[in-house]
Amino acid sequence: MFIGDIVGAVGRNALKQMLPKLKLKHSPHFVVVNGENAAGGRGITAAIAKEFFELGVHGITMGNHTWDQKEIFDFIDEEERLIRPANFPKGTPGRGFTVIKGKENELVLINLQGRTFLPPLDCPFEKADEILHDLGKKYQYIIVDFHAEATSEKLAMGWYLDGRVSAVVGTHTHVQTHDERILPQGTAYISDVGMVGPRDGILGMERQSVIRKFRTQLPVRFVVDEGKWHFHAVVMEFDHNGLAKKIESIRIFEEDVLFD
Ligand SMILES: [Fe+2]
Ligand SMILES: [Fe+2]
Repeated sequence: MFIGDIVGAVGRNALKQMLPKLKLKHSPHFVVVNGENAAGGRGITAAIAKEFFELGVHGITMGNHTWDQKEIFDFIDEEERLIRPANFPKGTPGRGFTVIKGKENELVLINLQGRTFLPPLDCPFEKADEILHDLGKKYQYIIVDFHAEATSEKLAMGWYLDGRVSAVVGTHTHVQTHDERILPQGTAYISDVGMVGPRDGILGMERQSVIRKFRTQLPVRFVVDEGKWHFHAVVMEFDHNGLAKKIESIRIFEEDVLFD
C-alpha cells in the first residue's frame, strides 16, 4: 500500500484513523507513505517519522520539501527506512533507495524527483538505471516513488521502467489522477497517488492565502488548512516475479468513515 503526501496534523490524524482499518481490509505486506509535508506542510521531524513507524508504516519517501525541517540532518543518515530523492547532488545526506525487510519478503523502495518545473537535479532516468544496475537481479519487488510535477515526465518514467520495476507511483501534485493501470511489461503505474490531509484547502494549504498569492504575486506565507480531510492511496499486488497483478486507487472522505 502506497499512501500519498501526508500534509500536516490533519493528514497525520487521517493516517492514524485510517491505517488500522485499511490494514484490516487489505492486509498489505508493506505500507509506504510520502512524508515530505508531514510537519506543518514542510518536511518531517524525527518524532513524526517515529509516529508513522509505530502506526505500521514500513518506509517513508520524501521530495522537494526534504530539507524544510533542519532537524532532518540529525537523523536522515541513520534512519534507513526514510529516503529522499536519489538524484539529489552527490554527497547529499541520506539515501535515495532502501531495502525494507518484511515478514516474508523484501521490498526495494526508490525515490526520484522530476526536473520539469522543479530544480535541475541529476537525470532521474540515468539515476534509475544506475540503481537498478547496482541492485542486479537480487530483488523482485521494487517500487519507485517518482516525485514530479509534470504528468508527461511521470508517464515517461513509467514507460522507461516498464518491466524493470514492480511499480512507478507519482507523488508531489497532491491531486490523485485516474490513470492507474498495469503497463504491458508488468509495471503498475499511476501519475499521482494524491494527498492525505485538509480537503478544503488548496493542496492542503489554507486557500485564502493561496488565492491571495495568485492574485497579488506578493510573497505570502502558506499555512496548512484545518477542517476535514481526504485520504488517497493505492493498493498493489505483485506476482512472484515482482510484476503487477493489480493496482487499485483509494479515495476516502472523512465523513464517509464517521459511523463505521
Ligand atoms: Fe507534497
Ligand atoms: Fe513535493
